[in-house]
Amino acid sequence: MAKPKLFVTRELFEDVIKKLEQYYDVEVWDKYTPPPYEVLLEKAKEVDALVTLLTDKVDCNLLQQAKKLRIIAQYAVGYDNIDIECATRLGIYVTNTPGVLTEATAELTWALILATARRIVEADHFVRWGEWWRTGTGWHPKMMLGVELKGKTLGVIGLGRIGSRVAEIAVKGFGMKVIYYDTKRREDLEKELGVEYRDLDQLLQEADIITIHVPLTDKTYHMINEERLKKMKRSAILINTARGKVIDTEALVKALREGWIAGAGLDVFEQEPLPPNHPLTAFKNVVLAPHIGSATYETRHAMAELVAENLIAFYEGREPPTLVNKEVLKVRPPGFK
Ligand code: GLV
Ligand code: GLV
Repeated sequence: MAKPKLFVTRELFEDVIKKLEQYYDVEVWDKYTPPPYEVLLEKAKEVDALVTLLTDKVDCNLLQQAKKLRIIAQYAVGYDNIDIECATRLGIYVTNTPGVLTEATAELTWALILATARRIVEADHFVRWGEWWRTGTGWHPKMMLGVELKGKTLGVIGLGRIGSRVAEIAVKGFGMKVIYYDTKRREDLEKELGVEYRDLDQLLQEADIITIHVPLTDKTYHMINEERLKKMKRSAILINTARGKVIDTEALVKALREGWIAGAGLDVFEQEPLPPNHPLTAFKNVVLAPHIGSATYETRHAMAELVAENLIAFYEGREPPTLVNKEVLKVRPPGFK
């Protein structure tokens, strides 16, 4: 049998591509920007398997025309760019990369919390652009004051893998109190870490720092809107390393402009890349990052390995280890036969 065809929408790691080439006839899109939709559609029509990124829109229109396509291995934990329900109906397997990026994303969340609370970016600019020099003071009791984390309350929205690791660091590392909101109670973690459940509005009123770790779904779209931003403390800091669309950006800009909250640390945006003149770029109390939650050497490589494991398992007729749409097993068995 000829090798099944695989289209990979961005350069991954050489060693992982080599491994995949033992099973698949691999084509890699080697540009720095994503393939345009029309290109992805043409490729999808020709191939048996795809490796996609969150920048690739895989809608039902594309899936219906991809007659040979059997598996999509997403190089991300989130998969809101893929119409999962449609893929399942068509018998197309979808896999993601959970677990391997938990640590990196939790660490970036803490980088943003600390950078926002202690004004690190602002402080860097203060030194770098000579303002410190111009003040003539080497040290001043009221220079660049921030907020301390110990004893404060962290509100975690979404206590999944990433959210619970962020919570663990808060409790064990910073001596914070942690409250959480999730659609599921996590009594195991309540016992283990002493975290406490709150409904969403209660959490927003009580937390000093609020951090978002939910996937983007119809239910979480604009979950943080004007009304909810108004519930937060004026001293609150909002952190988002999940998906930009969970926050209503216009409402957030208004909240920052009018001082409803004290600051924000954002790694994800409704529009990515964020345009240079975006209102969010004007605030000193906002720390911005370009969607780099999982961007460590270790994690990005482990994500590629997991993509390969999923594709190899499927090739061998086994259930892929991190299958998203388990119901697809009833539609079609794994494999290309
Ligand atoms: C990145 O945002 C991911 O979902 O892995
Ligand atoms: C993602 O890995 C999550 O469950 O938080």
